[in-house]
Amino acid sequence: MRAYRAKVVEPIHLPDRDEREANIEEAGYNVFNLDSEDVFIDLLTDSGTGTMSDEQWAAMMRGDEAYAGSDSFKRLQESVADVMGFENIVPAHQGRGAENVLYGVLVSEGDYVPNNTHFDTTRAHVVNNGGQPVDCPVDVAPDDPFQGNLDPEKVRELADEVGAENIPALVVTITNNSMAGQPVSVQNLRDAREVADEIDATFVIDACRFAENAYFVQQREAEFEGSSVAAIAREELSYADAIVMSGKKDALSNIGGFVGVRDDELFEHAKQRGILYEGFSTYGGLSGRDLEAMAVGLREAVTQPYIESRVEQVAELGDLLLDADVPIYAPTGGHAVYVKAEEFLPNIPREQFPGQVLVGELYREGGVRAVELGEFAFPGEDRPQLVRLCLPRRTYFREHLEHIAETFEKVGERRDELSGLEIVWEPPMEELRHFSAKLEPVE
Ligand code: F0G
Repeated sequence: MRAYRAKVVEPIHLPDRDEREANIEEAGYNVFNLDSEDVFIDLLTDSGTGTMSDEQWAAMMRGDEAYAGSDSFKRLQESVADVMGFENIVPAHQGRGAENVLYGVLVSEGDYVPNNTHFDTTRAHVVNNGGQPVDCPVDVAPDDPFQGNLDPEKVRELADEVGAENIPALVVTITNNSMAGQPVSVQNLRDAREVADEIDATFVIDACRFAENAYFVQQREAEFEGSSVAAIAREELSYADAIVMSGKKDALSNIGGFVGVRDDELFEHAKQRGILYEGFSTYGGLSGRDLEAMAVGLREAVTQPYIESRVEQVAELGDLLLDADVPIYAPTGGHAVYVKAEEFLPNIPREQFPGQVLVGELYREGGVRAVELGEFAFPGEDRPQLVRLCLPRRTYFREHLEHIAETFEKVGERRDELSGLEIVWEPPMEELRHFSAKLEPVE
């Protein structure tokens, strides 16, 4: 049951079929090139696209826009200390700004950085600082409740191979976005803490979806049955030396982020780098009202009614898709449903981008915008051809989820008529091609 009702609404509209056909063709079969007003249900990301509460909007009116020593910053500091247990924070304009601040201080040329699985911006910041990102996920069994976990043994093997002195930081991303949003157990965070101590590395948690992760722990980890999500959230993060946070996720805000650190010296370094790249250390590239929105959002994120409706809505979409015979990654994770495009469109070979074909058809059939995470986004990487359906927080209702499932059914009915896609234009940097490349149906 949704634990909120609408107070402000934004009209959305489904362009008719001819318009949708024209729009997707004009967008070069790339939904990043669509205008948002032409999108009926937008599942591109859960980042900054959710609905804020009345309390958040009210707090925004109190935004203190002082350059230095803003009250709004103090309120954010208090909120982070209460909810996440970090007293020292460096604000940043969003998660990747926080990554730049922290990894710029921790990582240097020739270093290695293990992570349960790097999210793309994390990977890019490690590389940008001369480091080498190394994914160390557990080898999962299908019934494993914590498929996002880190494999501590892989970290130990890496340390033996490259030398512990070349591993400045160990990162665990909760939930594990690049592993279908799967959760990480508290026990795994304890194990990660232990290996970080063994190799003398700074233990960083990418806390973007820390509240969603805490909900899974409450539901699935026996030790925490009956504990509050708020208590679990503090427990999870208590093992880390530092956190990087995107306020666009579990701070339920449209923009913002921060780094949290325990060590005073590391804090001082991060603060100086923050001033250089983000802005003075009490606003970090944000307006005072943005700091307020995060301060309130963090507290809301760890309340049971909120987090339960959030994660259960993703599961609800997953169930509707399974009923419609759509192959998905199950069980669903915290923020999105991941569809196995190769299984849904078995006639489209990998080099003709089955995921991107599906994304285009979802728009053509139902005005639904999803995102491809396969050969198009990650050229040449041996990974499953997935399509991510991300649910913005507190935004869509059951009817929208049903529309998404019906859209899949319609695409499925036409699967034998669909042709693959080829790239006809791409930008110079291959890593960024999926944001702007143009495609055409293969003849
Ligand atoms: N870390 C993780 C795990 C993320 O999922 C993201 C963003 C970031 C860091 C960077 O944060 O966007 O505020 O700069 N993920 C979004 C997504 C973009 O769609 O999954 P940001």
